Amino acid sequence: MSDQTPLTLTAITHPAIDAYCSDYSAQESPTLRKIRLATEQRFPKVHHMITGGLVTAFFKSIIQSTGTHWVLEIGTFTGYSALAFAEALPVKGRVITLDRDPVALAFAQEYWAQSADGKKIESILGVASESLAQISQEISQGIRPKPELIFIDADKSQNLAYLEWAIQNIEPRGNIFIDNVLWKGKVIDPQDSATQHIYKLNEFIKSDPRLHAVILPLRDGLWWLRRAPSADN
Ligand SMILES: C[S@@+](CC[C@H](N)C(=O)[O-])C[C@H]1O[C@@H](n2cnc3c(N)ncnc32)[C@H](O)[C@@H]1O
Repeated sequence: MSDQTPLTLTAITHPAIDAYCSDYSAQESPTLRKIRLATEQRFPKVHHMITGGLVTAFFKSIIQSTGTHWVLEIGTFTGYSALAFAEALPVKGRVITLDRDPVALAFAQEYWAQSADGKKIESILGVASESLAQISQEISQGIRPKPELIFIDADKSQNLAYLEWAIQNIEPRGNIFIDNVLWKGKVIDPQDSATQHIYKLNEFIKSDPRLHAVILPLRDGLWWLRRAPSADN
């Protein structure tokens, strides 16, 4: 490791290690690359919100090794992770993705239309809590199947509510992921209110007996949550 780029509280993994992992892992598709580069141009201040190639390569492995058909995403932004999910799903698979930002969503739709896999994506524009209330009603009426993978990646202050929804609505053997749960390392010394939200979420998960929980130090930290076997007894 170079002395110029020391590990600090603002980095989970050393940037050179991050780059190495990305280089040696499955690569993003040409359309995902286009979305990533176009997002950098169009949304220069917030383009880092994209989950990125390493995390989505991991999601693709999970989807394909578990035979997942149904994905629900909270937080679409410019559609990078939604299209990555769609690319990994079988032809009859579906991604439902939620966002309240019409500008980002229109941008996403323009790029999804350039990929055959884009047809697997259903986007719902609106405040996520309202969309989720509608979706859970449709699940209970048998109009929609229960999601087999849920990715929570929107407003961090609502993570606990999104998690509770996910626990109630996920397929019993499904996987729940929550992004940014190390918050650039600040969770080990939570000072500001944004970090406090993540800290409280992590404390909650740690002591919730319904969950089998693992934090992966991938990028900004990713919770991988499954229902604990004892929760199904
Ligand atoms: C981190 S970005 C999502 C990135 C995307 N998952 C990816 O990796 O390409 C978070 C998104 O959540 C959306 N968002 C934040 N709060 C929301 C809410 N209450 N309801 C719906 N969308 C929300 C924002 O508009 C933003 O586009």
